[in-house]
Amino acid sequence: MMSDTFKKAAVVGWPIKQSKSPLIHGYWIKKFEINGSYEAIGLPPENFTNGVNDLLSQGYRGCNVTIPHKETALEIADFVSDRAKAIGAANTLVFKDSKIHADNTDGIGFINNLKQGSASWAASNGTALVLGAGGAARAIIYALLQDGAPRVIIANRTEKNAKRLADFFGERVSAISITEVFGVLGDVQTFVNTTSLGMDGQPDLKIDISNLPKTALVTDIVYNPITTSLLSQAQELGLETVDGLGMLLHQAVPGFEAWFGVRPTVDATLRQIVLGG
Ligand code: ATR
Repeated sequence: MMSDTFKKAAVVGWPIKQSKSPLIHGYWIKKFEINGSYEAIGLPPENFTNGVNDLLSQGYRGCNVTIPHKETALEIADFVSDRAKAIGAANTLVFKDSKIHADNTDGIGFINNLKQGSASWAASNGTALVLGAGGAARAIIYALLQDGAPRVIIANRTEKNAKRLADFFGERVSAISITEVFGVLGDVQTFVNTTSLGMDGQPDLKIDISNLPKTALVTDIVYNPITTSLLSQAQELGLETVDGLGMLLHQAVPGFEAWFGVRPTVDATLRQIVLGG
């Protein structure tokens, strides 16, 4: 018989089979010998609200939320963290005293991945250049600013999307066109691709980064392939790189800690499991 302390969590999305979250949380549940479970639950949009409320009434500790529910998750929450509010989406719900607390851990996952992957990286090292202006860019820019980036430059195919995002974040953030990127690289210490370009099955990201200073760090949110052409170009230039797999793994840490009571670590075995799975 399951004891009262059996802890349940899940990821909900539609479709759900592509989610790596069960692999990540399943690994930690085993590693830390947690009396609990983490399931993948497919919920079509029309069932999302009822589905989450069912989890709440069934005693779940909370859930991750993935496509297409990340925005709706904010609307059904009783409490929304500042970062989820600013990012405009939630990926982590924690159920406490029958209330839904919504959080977004993508940005902090991005930051913690760079901190674990580099001995010397800090957002405060200098200007960051962010390629892309979608949801991932929003989470990453928010986190870079929180962590002390003095300036963030957004470059995007559709310049007005970059401008809109820059206006939202205010004076430390500006927008440029893709053609202006090469000219500003000399000042950039953190270079990040937040678009899907370079992912298997997508067009390649064609950008010349040879003007970056030798101290710059280059990272990509694409982790499939693990070494994107952006990262291999950076490595050929002798620049430090951090791949995107760690962002996915680190974004899972706060949810696991809230639901299961242990702060997990991102280790090499977890990387291998998720890369192979
Ligand atoms: P996510 O939420 O994962 O960030 P998104 O909101 O769809 O996804 O954002 C995708 C980003 O990748 C956008 O910045 C998009 O540029 P546009 O604003 O011009 O659409 C960028 N992107 C996607 N496909 C692209 C392509 N083929 N070339 C250049 N940029 C592309």
